[in-house]
Amino acid sequence: MALIRLDKYLCDLGLASRREVRALLRSGRVLVDGLPPVGADQKLDPVSAEVTLDGEALRYSRFRYFMMDKPVGCVTATEDREQRTVLDLLPPELRRLGLFPVGRLDKDTSGLLLLTNDGDFAHRVISPKSEVEKRYHAKVSGVPDAADAAAFREGLTLADGTRCLPAVLEYDGTEDCFVTLREGKYHQVKRMLAARGKPVRELRRLSIGGLTLPPGMQPGELRELTEADLCTLFMGR
Ligand code: URA
Repeated sequence: MALIRLDKYLCDLGLASRREVRALLRSGRVLVDGLPPVGADQKLDPVSAEVTLDGEALRYSRFRYFMMDKPVGCVTATEDREQRTVLDLLPPELRRLGLFPVGRLDKDTSGLLLLTNDGDFAHRVISPKSEVEKRYHAKVSGVPDAADAAAFREGLTLADGTRCLPAVLEYDGTEDCFVTLREGKYHQVKRMLAARGKPVRELRRLSIGGLTLPPGMQPGELRELTEADLCTLFMGR
């Protein structure tokens, strides 16, 4: 792997900001291959070098991947002058990683949201070409039925003429239903169900690809994805 500077290595891991990194190095807590570093600009191979912090080996990764149970009431944006954003929910040490949300959930939608600093990954999850399915639980006014499911299957045309890709609507004779999409147009689930005369009252995203929120995760909580989670995410494409 290409050599990188020690200060970049530590910043990419979220261990220090650019400003804090020199103090961290001066503290003597960081060793490179068992030796005190020469300086912040010391070059190292992030894969083969053994960097320790307080004696614990660090594992370098340029890109980071997290899941959040997005609560209702915050916006899916990196900044907003008036409203609380999903990034405002991050602990301080993760705010410096340059994370951004993968796709969008509306302010009044809850559920699985991914955050990363890897643009290619985000594109891969969002692009309809990747066919990564997103599954939602909706509570609607009205009772979805077989005719609605058939319309979803064929590919709905929304009120403004937008064509949707074929989608799956699961219904059970109540006001609850499940919608699975391979794309993410603006307010898509709400607009699709509204087009069938079943306006959404509550919406929650349950899964992205094969990835679901683990039981017991609290609204606003964040967990880093494992290698296995990343495989699960793209499973079944
Ligand atoms: N579809 C919607 O209408 N809203 C969301 O937040 C996500 C999908």
